[in-house]
Amino acid sequence: MKQFLSLLALGATWFDVAGAKDSKGIVPGKAFERIITIWLENQDFAKVVLDSNIADLKRRGVLLDRYYAQTHPSQPNYLAALGGDYFGCNHDDFLRIPEKVFTITDLLESRNVSWAAYMEDMPGPGFMGDYSDGSTGNGGWDYVRKHNPFVSYDSITNDGERLLRILSFDDFQRDFAARRVPQFVFMTPNMMNDGHNSTLQAAAEWSHKFLQPLLADNAFDERTLIMLTFDESETYEEPNHIVTLLLGTAIRPVIKGTDDHTFYTHYSILSTVEYNWQLPNLGRYDVGANVFHFAADTGGGYRDNKDPENAAAVDNSVSYPGFLHNETDKHRPIPPPNLNLVGAGGQGVLEAIKNAWRADKGKSTPYDGSGRLYDGVKVLPIHKAPTP
Ligand SMILES: *[C@@H]1O[C@H](CO)[C@@H](O)[C@H](O)[C@H]1NC(C)=O
Ligand SMILES: *[C@@H]1O[C@H](CO)[C@@H](O)[C@H](O)[C@H]1NC(C)=O
Ligand SMILES: *[C@@H]1O[C@H](CO)[C@@H](O)[C@H](O)[C@H]1NC(C)=O
Repeated sequence: MKQFLSLLALGATWFDVAGAKDSKGIVPGKAFERIITIWLENQDFAKVVLDSNIADLKRRGVLLDRYYAQTHPSQPNYLAALGGDYFGCNHDDFLRIPEKVFTITDLLESRNVSWAAYMEDMPGPGFMGDYSDGSTGNGGWDYVRKHNPFVSYDSITNDGERLLRILSFDDFQRDFAARRVPQFVFMTPNMMNDGHNSTLQAAAEWSHKFLQPLLADNAFDERTLIMLTFDESETYEEPNHIVTLLLGTAIRPVIKGTDDHTFYTHYSILSTVEYNWQLPNLGRYDVGANVFHFAADTGGGYRDNKDPENAAAVDNSVSYPGFLHNETDKHRPIPPPNLNLVGAGGQGVLEAIKNAWRADKGKSTPYDGSGRLYDGVKVLPIHKAPTP
């Protein structure tokens, strides 16, 4: 009888964590049912907080005041947010990441959490070209591939259904009006609106205006987290400190206007999403990255946030060697994921990743779940046998 009861309890837990959808196809999360990340370009923390539009948005959300980008230039930062590593990338040129490398899309799909990417001025779903001209720029390159990490992962582009989820801002407005915005959303404005070819003021003005309808109390039917972030800072000589704001109905009124001093990087997007939907992990730097405090606080049960032990030592402006490094002597194979890691979702590595990397099980890997940071000059990644 006792055994029967605990089986029942197990069954309930399984149902809870296994991505059961409600009648509208929404998978409930611990702290939010939807996350929308919006990516601006190249600004230093110290300047951004002084902007009046950003200050106004801040009153309506939480400022993460110790959020650091991974490296320079843009592209590796975008790649990191999907794959849990930037694989040594130190440039903005065309690249492809082999199919054996999995991304957050695999984790989300394993639990039926819907997702989409919306890229402003992308000419059509799943467009894989280097750039495309829109209407706001001064002569072209409004859409650029280097700010759209989805199309650089073969594991995404080799799957037609996934390609069809990489859409334009017009598609977003259509889905928003129809109240059909997916649960995980990644948005890149064009090169003018994200500030790349314009100014901080232009990007901040654009963001403020764009966000107004999304921040209305009735904008979404479910708790929605809107994250406005920058890919990297402007000044390469200084630590890569950027502004990130958390907004939306997932932020409780009592914490609006406050600052969160927890240490974060773009890997925290992955760990927070894994925590929220109790997803498996990628077995890379996603494991060990701090979970957004408000989410851990709302959802409960997560107390592992800590400063990376080497946060003060790292030079997060220089990429470490790796598969995507453009200098031959800094080229390295893609490290195998650490198949033993348990992530912020309380789950192990995704089963499909374990299957794909089975032959490399036990081989040395830089991923140890410690949250340590690495760079190309002071703190190079350490490869060692995976701990049990
Ligand atoms: C690598 O990329 C950087 C950044 O774009 C560039 O400055 C450098 O010249 C490139 N090096 C090689 C060897 O292509
Ligand atoms: C995901 O949805 C499919 C199709 O509706 C269903 O067969 C599957 O069991 C679901 N998976 C989870 C983890 O809920
Ligand atoms: C942005 O600037 C680059 C040069 O840095 C230029 O090639 C491109 O056309 C510009 N794009 C827009 C949309 O203004």
